[in-house]
Amino acid sequence: MEKRYGRITAWGSYIPEKVLTNHDLEKMMDTSHDWIVQRTGIHQRRIVAPHETTASMAVAASHLALQRANLAPADLDLIILATNTPDHIVTPPTSSQIQHTLGAAGVPALTITTGCTAFVYALVTAHQFVAAGSYNNILIVGSEILTRFMNWQDRATSVLFGDGAGACIMQATTEPCGLLSFELGSDGSGADYLLVPAGGAAEPINATTYAQGRHYVQMNGREVFKFATRVIGQSCQRVLAKAGLRIADIDWIVPHQANMRIIRAAARAMNVPLEQFVINIEKYANTGAASVPIAICEALDSGQIQPDDTLLVSSFGAGLTWATAILQMAPTPLHIHRQDPVRQLTAIPA
Ligand code: ACO
Repeated sequence: MEKRYGRITAWGSYIPEKVLTNHDLEKMMDTSHDWIVQRTGIHQRRIVAPHETTASMAVAASHLALQRANLAPADLDLIILATNTPDHIVTPPTSSQIQHTLGAAGVPALTITTGCTAFVYALVTAHQFVAAGSYNNILIVGSEILTRFMNWQDRATSVLFGDGAGACIMQATTEPCGLLSFELGSDGSGADYLLVPAGGAAEPINATTYAQGRHYVQMNGREVFKFATRVIGQSCQRVLAKAGLRIADIDWIVPHQANMRIIRAAARAMNVPLEQFVINIEKYANTGAASVPIAICEALDSGQIQPDDTLLVSSFGAGLTWATAILQMAPTPLHIHRQDPVRQLTAIPA
């Protein structure tokens, strides 16, 4: 079989209408716009309307991506949802609700829940199905309603998150493009740093856990911060080396949008100017598994990312997990020949 690649042919996103600014939060809790901006870079976030769900946002983003790819839902071979906030904890799977609402009758659908890295995990999973020759057209959608899992009495976490969805379509091709290299990782020893203690099989919700707010997100921000600043730079270097690329071959770095200080630290670690990063955290805060596709979709729509650019995408999240990938956006051949010995020997900058 000729070697197959997964070309990403279209992106779509859905952003809820309601804006919650830092100044709005000042009226709800003991915080300030200046503190939030200085510590995180966030100015505002979007909040879903009461009738909206993780599935409904995913369907809206997916419709746009399908339309732009000129595909009908029935053309899909697989749907992968990336989320940490499914509409139902046990059953039914939100991915099947999306499949049904889209009208993709009988199309297999699965959910990936690996913290905020879930979209990049999903991209890599989709790529495997394409490369193996199993499927040709895959919808990958990240959708997240983290604000419904916030304890609004907890100023240390509730100011950080927002809602939204982003989707893309991966289609099989024999032209070298799509995922050039990747690294997925997990370190479960950091489970307690970011968790919702109650609501799963380990600790079902009861009156006591409810009264203690154990069904909300709890986070050790400092530990997550240390982990993220360490892992992003290291993982990006390994993924570049795997692809035989240098940072100079990358047009844009798309980080998980969790904290501006983490992004700055990653820029320093990679010796890359901040201007080379795609950043929208000021508008949407941390939208979990939706942050990467929303950022890419928006940057493509604004013309910041060009259709043939090469992206270095890096995310981290609960688990703890990390996921980094190099994505060649274009249908055009790679602008550097992959067997070029000069490039293979080029040192990866520290
Ligand atoms: N407003 C005002 N003051 C606050 C707020 C707030 N919203 N939150 C905390 N503070 C106070 C604290 O109470 C503390 O006060 P004290 O010194 O009187 O005790 C002070 O600010 C400093 O608190 P720290 O927690 O030490 O603040 P830090 O500088 O570490 O910043 C933050 C906190 C922003 C959460 C940071 O640790 C961080 O960004 N960590 C990474 C978080 C992250 O990326 N999470 C998501 C990743 S994974 C995923 O996306 C699912």
